[in-house]
Amino acid sequence: MTLDKLEVEFAGLRFRNPFMLSSAPPAMDARHILRAARLGWGGAVIKTVTEEPTVDPRVRLGALRQGKNLIGMNNIELLSREPLKTWTDDWIPTIKREAPEDFILVASIMSSPEPEGWEALASTMTAAGADAIELNVSCPHGSPEKHMGAFIGQNPDLVKDVTRAARKGTDLPLLVKLTPNVTDMVPIAEAAIEGGADGLSAINTVESLIGIDVETATPHPFAYGDAPSEPMSTYGGFCGPSVRPIGLRFVSQIARAFPGTPISGIGGIEDWHSAVEYLMVGASTLQICTAAMWMGYGIIKEMLEGIGQFMERKGYDSIQSMVGKALPKITSWTALPKLPPLVAKVSEERCTGCKKCVIACADGGYVAIQMSGGVAVVKQDICDGCGLCAVVCPDSAIEFVHLQ
Ligand SMILES: Cc1cc2nc3c(=O)[nH]c(=O)nc-3n(C[C@H](O)[C@H](O)[C@H](O)COP(=O)(O)O)c2cc1C
Repeated sequence: MTLDKLEVEFAGLRFRNPFMLSSAPPAMDARHILRAARLGWGGAVIKTVTEEPTVDPRVRLGALRQGKNLIGMNNIELLSREPLKTWTDDWIPTIKREAPEDFILVASIMSSPEPEGWEALASTMTAAGADAIELNVSCPHGSPEKHMGAFIGQNPDLVKDVTRAARKGTDLPLLVKLTPNVTDMVPIAEAAIEGGADGLSAINTVESLIGIDVETATPHPFAYGDAPSEPMSTYGGFCGPSVRPIGLRFVSQIARAFPGTPISGIGGIEDWHSAVEYLMVGASTLQICTAAMWMGYGIIKEMLEGIGQFMERKGYDSIQSMVGKALPKITSWTALPKLPPLVAKVSEERCTGCKKCVIACADGGYVAIQMSGGVAVVKQDICDGCGLCAVVCPDSAIEFVHLQ
């Protein structure tokens, strides 16, 4: 597999591979971004910068676990803690000078609904040497209280206004990062395109309350004030593997609505497989935050190797050839075929006799599975083909066949 097969054209820029750090702690400063650039990442979106540096609560990250496994995270942190000047006078020029030449650096900016701020920030970042600009109209916590972030991103008129303003400030490729905290992303994406966006990034985090410490009746994450005050919390942004289905939904919906518009897919990408899922629903670059925070920048090696091997195995000769591959197979519920009936069939070789499907089918299904000779057997005349047995089977031992 030659590495140039992983190159991709996106909003007029050539990426050496589609993997970027999203705007978040792994892209918090030049030192972090340069380390990722040298390890092979295709690009990075800098931690969002606004006119005033952020002072964050501590603690500001919370976990969702199943047993010991981390399956999601939320955060209540805001934007870059360093002044704009540090980015424009030091970090952006340093990254552009020291990173490999083909590493793409995107400047994420945020301002109030007043257009002047967006135009000025876009223009300043352009002068500093960024390769593209991303508008953060999607942070779901803190920012909306100040009429910023998702406050703008939930209103198509404001999205169009601020995009138009940023467009005035730059000739660089302009991306708008969209919020999943809306019923329908399509009108918001349309407003961004009408305002002059060259591409869309989706998704930012999902507004959430990550969990409650029931011993002290306190929501996570605990933000501590001065002792002896009780910790308090607030709603945050949920991310990581658990949000992937939400990201795939929104990316596929905007890709279907605006064919040909470059989309940077974000939300729960953690390996080559989830990366390919996003490509297949219409993304052509991929942004990652949580997986880099949990496992480090080194995941890039496995992702590049994995995607290369997949392409070779399946005969894809470019990243672009995978983009949108799954979209023609998404239709409306009404258009889905309901007949003829399908039924479950258990593979005797794969079934380990764990009985998970038997229990699930008895109480959540159609009482169609029983044990026989140490393996699960489906009574096909009773099975309704709902799929619950396959959902709970840990050994991929169930397939679906037409009723004979
Ligand atoms: C701690 C933290 C800080 C973040 N800060 C920003 C930010 O400054 N700007 C932004 O556009 N998105 C921010 N995000 C959102 C991520 O860039 C990304 O959209 C989201 O986490 C979903 O991707 P993931 O599932 O790979 O984490 C942040 C996420 C986390 C976890």
